[in-house]
Amino acid sequence: MKILLVDGTIFGRKTGVLLETIQQSIAKYNANYELEILSFSKLKHQILDGSPLNDDMKYMIQQFEQADAYVFASPIFQASIPGVLKNAFDMIPPKAMRYKPAAIVANGGTTQHHMVIEHQLKPILDYFRTLVTPNYVYTHGAHFNDQNEIIDEDVLARLDELARVFVQYCEMSQNLKPSAVQA
Ligand SMILES: Cc1cc2nc3c(=O)[nH]c(=O)nc-3n(C[C@H](O)[C@H](O)[C@H](O)COP(=O)(O)O)c2cc1C
Repeated sequence: MKILLVDGTIFGRKTGVLLETIQQSIAKYNANYELEILSFSKLKHQILDGSPLNDDMKYMIQQFEQADAYVFASPIFQASIPGVLKNAFDMIPPKAMRYKPAAIVANGGTTQHHMVIEHQLKPILDYFRTLVTPNYVYTHGAHFNDQNEIIDEDVLARLDELARVFVQYCEMSQNLKPSAVQA
């Protein structure tokens, strides 16, 4: 089973730290999964304007299509997800993530903007008909030290719990093959 961990930003480090932390927990709960981090900061992004896609965007779409499950990491930008993440979603074929598990981690500068996950990111993943886990983890600056290490024990415990639930969703999803999808 291939898990794609998507760091959906070209700025900042904390979302990457969240992904690397949950990656370790996922591997602890199932050592057989293939885990790959897709860092948007390493891609040459292209606005979806009808032009032929560049090689990085083709690679990104292929990674989404070939994965069996996803962990999305998003910072909060202007009370929303970053434009680069929405632009990527716009490039993904609507059935590419169908019935595949998805977990969410996010970081913002404020305590309040976790609602961006509920009202903006989850509806997009619902549109794709992903199996979004019921729990997610939102962090803010006080959960990290100056080296961007997570110093909050509760956050670490919640990331581990998210990984545990996500792995269960991954196992369950294997009985829901895409070939069974009619429409
Ligand atoms: C353009 C921009 C807009 C931002 N807008 C918000 C915001 O509306 N709410 C919020 O909580 N944090 C906001 N932030 C803070 C980011 O969420 C934060 O920088 C990001 O999670 C990465 O953290 P890091 O740079 O310390 O690694 C914004 C940051 C930038 C660069």
